[in-house]
Amino acid sequence: MFCRGQTTTVTVFAPAKLNLFLNVLGKRDDGYHELETLMVSVGLYDTLTFSDASTGDVSLLCRDAGRPARGRPPRELPGSGEDNLVVRAARLLQSATGTRFGAKIDLVKRIPLSAGFAGGSSDAAAALTGLNRLWNLRLSLPELSALGARLGSDVPFFLCIAPAAICRGRGEVVEPLRLASRFWFVIARPPSGLSTAEVYRHCRPSPVARSAGELALRLARGHLQGAAGLFHNSLQEPAERLSADVTRLKTAFARQPFAGHMMSGSGTGYFGLCRSRRQAVQLASRLKAMRLGDVFAVSSRP
Ligand code: C5P
Repeated sequence: MFCRGQTTTVTVFAPAKLNLFLNVLGKRDDGYHELETLMVSVGLYDTLTFSDASTGDVSLLCRDAGRPARGRPPRELPGSGEDNLVVRAARLLQSATGTRFGAKIDLVKRIPLSAGFAGGSSDAAAALTGLNRLWNLRLSLPELSALGARLGSDVPFFLCIAPAAICRGRGEVVEPLRLASRFWFVIARPPSGLSTAEVYRHCRPSPVARSAGELALRLARGHLQGAAGLFHNSLQEPAERLSADVTRLKTAFARQPFAGHMMSGSGTGYFGLCRSRRQAVQLASRLKAMRLGDVFAVSSRP
């Protein structure tokens, strides 16, 4: 997450993430699932701009980054109300610190929704980071992470500055990782999305013991093919049962020479690992031509 600006206006770039490994270990008493996941943040960003609102009000304008029709402003998206995770993050920070400041928040969305790329969680983490700075609250990263975990299981990952991490618990216990280099991916989001809660409801924890540790080692050493062989996602099978779009993407990705491919998070978004930037651009353009959904070539962060 990059944050820049003076105290009157702060801009934060909120990245998407991919789960290269997601193993559901079992259901917990609080209704969540215990898991071990390896997440990588990638260069597809929502942009959030925070400016002062001396009234104490928090307002959000949420817009689609897609190119608007000539002469028209960017399309306004629904979901800018109190339910939006960005507004909830601002309210939580206000109540936790007692600040009387408010903010005008402008959110430009590029990360596809309901895709398993955690756009909403990343935006919430960006709101905590940006408002901590705008309001000069000086909360530490562990303090922001504790607040973030109350907003969503993936939020603490985006507050850690590492390019990748193994996350445990319900996702909020973050162990930062190192990557050998930049890895290139093609990511795709089909026309339909899935609800995270519904996919987890249909998931049966696997009795097979697996760990993200070996994958982390191969990523740290830059063993691309070895890493791809260890991709895993316990949520892919239930997601495929709920959405034919996921199976369609799996079939299309399997026909291309990716080092490996997998669904991200609870879907329906899908990714393939590439050997180079050139290959990512080439395979992205092939998949775009198939009109299976939105397709991007992205890299992990250095
Ligand atoms: O934490 P978050 O709000 O993103 O989770 C959305 C939903 O996904 C939860 O309400 C829960 O149903 C499901 N979930 C889960 N186990 C997790 C994370 C999420 O069951 N570890």
